[in-house]
Amino acid sequence: MKGEARNVNELMNMRVGCAMTGSFCTFRAVFEAWRALATTGAELVPIMSFNAYDLDTRFGTGEFFRGELRKIAQNEIIHTIPDAEPIGPKKLLDALVICPCTGNTIAKLAAGVADTPVTLAAKSHLRNQRPVVIAVSTNDALAAAAANIGALKNRKNIFFVPYRQDDPQEKPNSVVAEFSLTARTLHAALEGRQIQPVML
Ligand SMILES: Cc1cc2nc3c(=O)[nH]c(=O)nc-3n(C[C@H](O)[C@H](O)[C@H](O)COP(=O)(O)O)c2cc1C
Repeated sequence: MKGEARNVNELMNMRVGCAMTGSFCTFRAVFEAWRALATTGAELVPIMSFNAYDLDTRFGTGEFFRGELRKIAQNEIIHTIPDAEPIGPKKLLDALVICPCTGNTIAKLAAGVADTPVTLAAKSHLRNQRPVVIAVSTNDALAAAAANIGALKNRKNIFFVPYRQDDPQEKPNSVVAEFSLTARTLHAALEGRQIQPVML
């Protein structure tokens, strides 16, 4: 990560969309990343996919996770299509971070499908040619999702939080982003750079 030791406090006054999709097992780690981002002085605009917002799973209830995100961001959560739509036209965000980003949402982004608050937020925001940062978390990243990740890596204004295989023996196709690098990835993305190495 040589040459990447940036002062993330330069994110002060940036409006950052903090979008969460349904990789529920990572939510508690992701909240740490949002807390770290909040300390940079960035304004956090929380966004959740329908599934991230609504579902109760073995990792916690939707109500608990919604409450945590609201508390960290100090803003109401965008969780409907009509509320996500103005993000582009009104230039509401300097950057959008999707963390965690499921294989499902990655597939939709790669295919140009915008039928959730998060995918519409991305589509709407990208029309302003501003950065979208993706923190992947999916068991099929090196299988069915690989082509979609590749497509997004080749797309303008899309950047990736560095990622690694999280359990090569038991889950050989699984990849998870290093969430603690989210703020640094965002800072570089705002300068049009992908931080390296992207594969840890
Ligand atoms: C408990 C639980 C954990 C899940 N973890 C993941 C995950 O880590 N990565 C992933 O891509 N999908 C995961 N899924 C599946 C997604 O939630 C599912 O594909 C959903 O349709 C995603 O919708 P979204 O991308 O709009 O949030 C999980 C589902 C459940 C119920």
